[in-house]
Parts: sequence; C-alpha cells; structure tokens
Amino acid sequence: MRIGIAADHGGFDLKVQLASALKAAGYEVTDFGAYELVTGDDYPDFVVPLARAVAKGEVSRGLAICGSGVGACVAANKVPGVRAALITDSFSAHQGVEDDDMNVMCLGGRVTGYALSWDLVQTFLNARFKGDERFSRRLAKVAELENKEIRS
Ligand code: RB5
Repeated sequence: MRIGIAADHGGFDLKVQLASALKAAGYEVTDFGAYELVTGDDYPDFVVPLARAVAKGEVSRGLAICGSGVGACVAANKVPGVRAALITDSFSAHQGVEDDDMNVMCLGGRVTGYALSWDLVQTFLNARFKGDERFSRRLAKVAELENKEIRS
C-alpha cells in the first residue's frame, strides 16, 4: 500500500516521525513535502499535490498535516474525489473510512502528539469502506454535488 504524506511547518516534525514509522511498518511512502522546516510556508503548496495524487489513485491514502489540521483539511477537500477529515479520535479514524470512504486523514501537528497520531494512522490504514447500500447512496449524493459544483 502506497501512502502519501504532506505537511507545512506546523506539521513538519510529525510528518518526519510518521513517514519513518510508516516505512518501518512496510508501507511505501510518497512524501509531498515540505522537505525542510521553513517557518511561514503554506499548507496548500504541499497538501494539494497530495490530494491530487489521492484523487488520481497514485497513492492509496493520504495523510495531510498542518498545525491544527484544519487548513490541511479545507485545502484537501477542494480537490474533487478527495474525502478528507480532521481526526483526533480512534472511532472516527476507522468509521470515517468504513462509512464515508475517507481517503485523506488530516492531523494537527500542534494538537495531536506522535504516539496518538501513529495509533490513528494505523487505525485509518487498516480500515476498509463497508460499501453498504446506505453508505454508497450517501457518497453518491456527495459525488453528485461535487460534479454539479464543478459544472456551475
Ligand atoms: C501555521 O501557522 C498554521 O496556521 C497552519 O499550520 C495550520 O494550523 C492551519 O490550519
């Protein structure tokens, strides 16, 4: 499974730790930057390329990190086909995939510490979309909305 990861300065340290843990666990990792800690860099510059790679299927799942996780989540969700959420608890880390087919998990590097983040990442990556009719029906409505908004 290839995982994409991206962070601005607010998530840089957590990205370094998570990328290392992912590789040690046997995942292939594509790092979309930032590649060095630059105070004042901008999360869309890293998160949008990651989100596009998820939407195109170039990576299976994405991890987007900024200081709070909010900006990363807002930016990622602008890319059609991305279903991103800011996650701080284990239930949402798996249910977001099982019910809502979340494909990008956002974390706040200034909010959630490494140990909990790594637990959440593993929970996210081990979860699978259940595909029940009601879940697919809801996602079809979201996709339809996305298509209409793109065309309007
Ligand atoms: C950067 O200072 C911070 O604003 C950013 O990392 C993020 O928290 C935005 O949501």
